[in-house]
Amino acid sequence: MAQPSISTLTSLLADDVTLVNEVIMARMASDVPMIPELASHLIAAGGKRMRPMLTLAGARAATGSTAAADSRALLLAAAVEFIHNATLLHDDVIDESDKRRGRDTANALWGNEASVLVGDFLFARSFELMVETDDIAVLGMLSSASARITEGEVKQMTMAGRPDSPMQDYLDVITGKTAILFAAAAASGAKVMGGSEALIQGLHRYGLSLGMAFQIVDDALDYRSDLASMGKNAGDDFNDGKITMPVILAWQDGDEAERAFWQRTIGMGAIQEGDFDEAVDYLTKHQAIERALAEAKSYAEQAIAALDVVPEEALREALADAALYTVARTL
Ligand code: IPE
Ligand code: IPE
Ligand code: MG
Ligand code: MG
Repeated sequence: MAQPSISTLTSLLADDVTLVNEVIMARMASDVPMIPELASHLIAAGGKRMRPMLTLAGARAATGSTAAADSRALLLAAAVEFIHNATLLHDDVIDESDKRRGRDTANALWGNEASVLVGDFLFARSFELMVETDDIAVLGMLSSASARITEGEVKQMTMAGRPDSPMQDYLDVITGKTAILFAAAAASGAKVMGGSEALIQGLHRYGLSLGMAFQIVDDALDYRSDLASMGKNAGDDFNDGKITMPVILAWQDGDEAERAFWQRTIGMGAIQEGDFDEAVDYLTKHQAIERALAEAKSYAEQAIAALDVVPEEALREALADAALYTVARTL
């Protein structure tokens, strides 16, 4: 069987995505040259555009036609990608990351202050775009999502270095920092185009489960040394003392010596050469990566199960493929 791919969705929405990219490029303009320079370094580097595609898919599910017919869906999709890119700029400062989308990060090139400020600019621009849709309900949905993203990031920060954290805390973190934006992206696309309550709620459930699956996979892949293919560095989470599902599983099943290892490394940050490989050995011993990926698969299945509200078969299949791709991806 062919590898599940995001290309079914990308192809179906290609014309709309081109238009959204035009809105994005036009709206990052500013008279202060550093803003478009820094923003386009990140934005023009690509990215999968998953969240704006969910918005476009939501709009299409509500109307049965492409979003190009209505600029509100395009504005909203651009706003969603701006929110995402703003959080990436901030996230790479917090995580001290130096690679993103295969390039040096903005913080590595321009410094933390510039990255934070341009992130703020993109956030503010996203609100301008949302206001232009003239729909207070979608503005509400996406502004709550933005607050939840930051709550997730702050909760994650307070959990850092605590490998004995309950799994539920991790699930709360990723719900906030990732899944809520996927959910709001899809639901708001349907909402702005006047979709039914059942459709809006179904797409919200789809996005939420998809986002959970997506982040669990992302976190699992952080322990794979072949991560260079993702355009990010492997081992960042370990070095940052970040608590993710594989670590919680390995802690729960670990013996005394293993727990001492996690306390010294993730807990106290006293990381020495060879520790990352040792961490990977413990994760392997407890099948922590496989178990995390199995959990992600179950979220992807829940996402697919929510899709029966989508009337168009081609769209339903493309969204189901995107969910399968999320758990099969190595990218
Ligand atoms: C990265 O998201 C942040 C996470 C939630 C893991 P994506 O993997 O969707 O990033 P881009 O936009 O495709 O670069
Ligand atoms: C992604 O979090 C950022 C947000 C969802 C706000 P991570 O820190 O886990 O993602 P990467 O690995 O940097 O893309
Ligand atoms: Mg990060
Ligand atoms: Mg982070």
